Parts: sequence; structure tokens; C-alpha cells
Amino acid sequence: MTASPKSLYERAQAVLPPAAGRATDLGVVRGEGAYLVTEDGRRYLDFASGVAVTNVGHNHPKVVAAAKVQMESLIHGGHNVVYYPSYVELAETLNELTGGGNKVYFSNSGAEANEGAVKLAKKVTKRPAVIAFKRAFHGRTLAAASLTASGSLYRKDYEGLLPSVYHAEYPYPFRSGLSEDAETERCIRQLEELFQLQVDPETVAAMIVEPVQGEGGYIVPPASFIQKIREICDKYGIMLIFDEIQTAFGRTGKMFAYEHFGVKPDILTLAKGIASGFPLSAIVAPQAIMDQWPAGTHGGTYGGNPVACAASLATIELLKDGLLDQAAQMGEYFREQLRKVQQDLNIQGEVRGLGLMIGFEIVGDDGRPAPAIVGELRAKCMEDGLLLLTCGTDKNVIRFMPPTIVTKEHIDEAVAIIGKHLRTLVS
Ligand SMILES: Cc1ncc(COP(=O)(O)O)c(C=O)c1O
Repeated sequence: MTASPKSLYERAQAVLPPAAGRATDLGVVRGEGAYLVTEDGRRYLDFASGVAVTNVGHNHPKVVAAAKVQMESLIHGGHNVVYYPSYVELAETLNELTGGGNKVYFSNSGAEANEGAVKLAKKVTKRPAVIAFKRAFHGRTLAAASLTASGSLYRKDYEGLLPSVYHAEYPYPFRSGLSEDAETERCIRQLEELFQLQVDPETVAAMIVEPVQGEGGYIVPPASFIQKIREICDKYGIMLIFDEIQTAFGRTGKMFAYEHFGVKPDILTLAKGIASGFPLSAIVAPQAIMDQWPAGTHGGTYGGNPVACAASLATIELLKDGLLDQAAQMGEYFREQLRKVQQDLNIQGEVRGLGLMIGFEIVGDDGRPAPAIVGELRAKCMEDGLLLLTCGTDKNVIRFMPPTIVTKEHIDEAVAIIGKHLRTLVS
């Protein structure tokens, strides 16, 4: 009798370290639009999108075609060596999308973009300190881990991190129970206290913030908070960095989440959805800031790979050609349907989000986080072919990141699966 071949999961145990924690044991061989196909032929409705990356769906034919054409002409040139068309064209496109007058620096990952943004702010201001926010996630490299404050796991045993990083309060109206205005006031008061007690604002190079917190719980702050921190940064000459690594490229129903708040950053960091899965990230900032970053003070071998830039241009075209609107409409529909389930089953918690960046926080009757229900729900949905992830510092938020090509039929299917399992879990 021949032994059945080992699954990818089984083979991986021998050769892959546990460091990169995986949400599932799935071995995946193909992506098709909103679906992933496993090695044993199962199809999963993918509402994780590789953690908010495949925003126009898996292997969109237009993205595949653009990447193929680019591969025929140039795979690598090296942005520290030469110029090539897809790189320059993407910089022009991002400059245009962000209102003009900007320059763009490309690298590979979100963490790398945030590291670069902090280096840029330090280079320009000649100041040492950086302010980030509690529950923020900015990546796992050492400087990015210093900014991250969504779990001590990310920092444990790595301490001695980047010095002079301070964490301020980020609004969380659902938890504080305060009105949006009162919550903004509470956070701003705490920031002012930080300036008074711990760090003089004139020694602060940058304030880095997610316009919607991702890993921290899919928390949408009041617009007044984002507007207020903009004012504070202007007052003290602090560079405001928006980490839009998770929120950009259609995720919130707009190209960039800052468009919801009527506020622009000094420095914008982008990654994830930028190139539909090709490794690419970008730092966008006004020319006057970027021109103070001298040659050789930052760089990297692979930044702005030609194929990734070509895939990005095709992705952006698709978003502009209707998918941004679809994301906004489907997001609204999805939240409505989830709220109906919440109401029908009398579930304590909150459905929130912008566009297709949707969180469903579940708490018990005592108001305490209910991570067991959320974990169980995620596992049960997997059995029914729906791939979901969780977030939140208490792991009690189901997060939905469907691609912008998602349809009402996909959403109805997902909501039916979620409703079915929630009914048994809360009864
Ligand atoms: C808001 C935010 N910033 C930064 C990062 C880090 O990006 P990367 O994993 O590409 O380094 C992430 C990744 O989840 C993120 O969500």
C-alpha cells in the first residue's frame, strides 16, 4: 500500500519555523477572483485577501497581463542603478492621485516604507522623537516594531528598540462609551499631557498614525481626531505620517482613507493593495520634503521592481475604472447585512468600518470581549468554505477584507454562513 502524499501543511512542519504564524493550515494552489483553491480542490470564499492585499481579487487578468508584458521586457534593473518606465510612470500616477507636487520613494514592504518615512522625518526635522498610538500596527522590523503597540508579543525579547518612541491614545468610542467629540477630546488631552510630562513637542520628528486602525481592531476614529492631530503637528512642526499600508487602494471605498477625513499627511506610506500581491511599497511626500533626503541616505536593492510597478499601474487602473465605487457600495450593503444578523440574534458588540474594511466586534452580555466566540466563529466559517481573519487587541473582532470585485451574492453567501454559526454559538 502506498502512503498518501503529504499535504503542504505536513511538509511545512519539517522545514518552516513557527515564527510566521499562520491563520490556517490550508495549502493553496490557485487564486481565482474572490476565491482560493486548495491542493485538495476545495474552494474558499476569500474575505482575507492575503491580509488586505489582493484588493482587485486574485490573479485579475489585467494585472496578470501587465505583469507578463513587463516580464518579457525587464524583470530587474535596480532602482539604485537605472531608471525604467513602470517605476517612473507609477511615481507620476501616485503623485497625481495624491494631488500633485509630491515625490515618491519605492521599497518592498509596509514595514520598510514606515522605516523610510521615519528616517525621512528625522532627516528633515533633525529631531529624535516619534509619536505613535496605542494598538497601532506598523510592522515587525526593529524600528517598525518600536512603533507597533498592538501586542507585547511583537516586542518581547527584542527590547532595546528604537529610542524616543512614545505611544499616545487612539480613539475607541465603542470601548470608552463616549461620544465622538468627547472621545477626541479625551485623546487630545492625553497627547497634550504627554507633551507636558514626557516629550517636548519641539523634539518630535514625526507622528505616525493609521487613519483607520487595522490590526488594533478595525477602529474608525472620529474625523475631528484626525483633524486635530493635523493641527497639532502644524503647530509644532511635526511631520504627520499616515500609515495607509492597509487602508489604501480601495480598502475603505476610496483610493486613500485620508479622503474620508479631509486631512492630508506630510508623509504617506503605502503597500499591501498597491500591486495586487507583488511586493511593493511607497513613501509619498511633498517635493520640498523629499528633496531634503540626499542621495545615498536611503536605498535598497529591490525597491520598485519593474514587474511590481507594472502590476500596480494595472491595479490602480481597475480601481479607478469602477472598483472603488463597487467597494463603497458593497461595503455599505455588507455592514447592513451584518447589522441585521447582529440585531436578529441580539449580539452585543459593534459592526463598523469604511468601505470593505469591516470589523464585527463581539462582546458578552457583561460588555467584556468575547474572543472565544469569535475564534470559534472563524473556525466554523472555514469549515463552510469562508476564509476570515480576526483582529483587535482582545482578538474579539472578526475582520472582513473582501476584494473590491465582491458581489451581493458573495456577501449574501458569507452572511448566511456567519448567521448560521453565530446562532448556535450565542444560543
Ligand atoms: C497598517 C500597517 N502598517 C504596516 C504593516 C506592515 O506591513 P508589512 O507586513 O508589509 O511589513 C501592516 C501589515 O499588516 C499594516 O497593516
